[in-house]
Amino acid sequence: MPNVVVLGLQWGDEGKARFIDYLASEVDIVARYQGGSNAGHTVVCDGQKFIFHLVPSGVLRPGKVNVVGNGVVIDPEELMKEIDELKARGVSVNDRLLVSDRAQVVLPYHKRLDAAQEKKSGGKIGTTLRGIGPAYSHKYLRIGMRMGDIIRPARAKALLKEQLPGINAVLKKIYGQKAVSEASLLKFLLSYGKKLKSFVTDTTYYLNEQTEAGKSILFEGAQATLLDIDFGTYPYVTSSNPSAGGVSTGTGIPPKLVGRVTGVLKAYTTRVGSGPFPTELKSAHGQQLREAGGEYGATTGRPRRCGWLDAVAARYSVMLNGVDEIAFSKLDVLSGQKSVKIAVAYSYRGKITDRFPADPDVLSKVKPIYEEMPGWSNEIRNVREFKALPASAKKYVRRVEKLIGVPIKFISVGEQREQLIVR
Ligand code: IMP
Repeated sequence: MPNVVVLGLQWGDEGKARFIDYLASEVDIVARYQGGSNAGHTVVCDGQKFIFHLVPSGVLRPGKVNVVGNGVVIDPEELMKEIDELKARGVSVNDRLLVSDRAQVVLPYHKRLDAAQEKKSGGKIGTTLRGIGPAYSHKYLRIGMRMGDIIRPARAKALLKEQLPGINAVLKKIYGQKAVSEASLLKFLLSYGKKLKSFVTDTTYYLNEQTEAGKSILFEGAQATLLDIDFGTYPYVTSSNPSAGGVSTGTGIPPKLVGRVTGVLKAYTTRVGSGPFPTELKSAHGQQLREAGGEYGATTGRPRRCGWLDAVAARYSVMLNGVDEIAFSKLDVLSGQKSVKIAVAYSYRGKITDRFPADPDVLSKVKPIYEEMPGWSNEIRNVREFKALPASAKKYVRRVEKLIGVPIKFISVGEQREQLIVR
């Protein structure tokens, strides 16, 4: 199988991990290319639920190598916790988890800065408080530390000496917070550097050499296209590039080798945190979808905002990522709806548009133009073939395909591995 990218087409939580887990059986390597422990990738396997924040979602497939690429920001404490928890559950990652020496480190003060910024702004973005924005900011300010630095005690010590006074000045003067102690932070860094050292390597060479040797890679996206720092609903976005453009910069694999793009689209839409959401159902109906779909954050437990499928947004994401095929998730959650709606265009100040606007003020004011279709009452969680779906469900799938112009190749009808329809 050639290389493939699996990424989200909405605001995250599309159920990417279950498709990654499925497709991982067909590749040699799974590589995360961006984000950090803000992600919560859920895979249910033999009745056991696993939630991955930093370890790639291919880890449950024996023998597959899992790579945390240079574009990821790594909270060492969280990564170690995940490795230990997996081990305790019988999943060993030794020899098949590789962490880029170029990946930036999320330090405890990044989480403090994240929380302080959110507090100061009155929770403007509604981040996951995992230190993601501050860690990426420091990367671009060139005052970050990389995994390759914390495994070298003298380097970690020197960088800390150089960087901490500036960080402490910001914490104290801007946010009125206590300074971070250099000694305790150094202890933290050296301890995790030592624990994680055996996993840290030059994954850029590794991935390119494996490619040269004919091995295939699945690139795992975290968050999603509409949360992309460049193409998402800025400023209500994450601080990385979840869209396909991020694959190359986040792994070191040249763009021409990135391969097929599988876009994951949920049968309805959800969003967690702030920001415009044209098809949001603010009524009890939204609440009903939330309960039916178990729409609570895998990382933060926050209730997700719910609404109808937005074909305008989906077409935009398909265009940006060059999507080849769709993995359509959680179709079973819509069972029991009298009718289902899809936004096919927006109306703004009396004008109709099929474009997804860049301006968040415009996006928050557009009115979705809906197409309404009959729902289906039958339970579909045991269906394994497309032709066995209720007629209205098939019609819904075909209509979505037509509206976004890409074939729907996979349909998930439940969270278990086997609750999948492959067309
Ligand atoms: P941050 O990534 O923690 O900085 O949060 C920025 C925005 O992205 C917030 O609205 C978060 O709720 C959202 N976000 C971050 N990670 C995820 C995710 O994995 N799923 C869904 N939303 C996310």
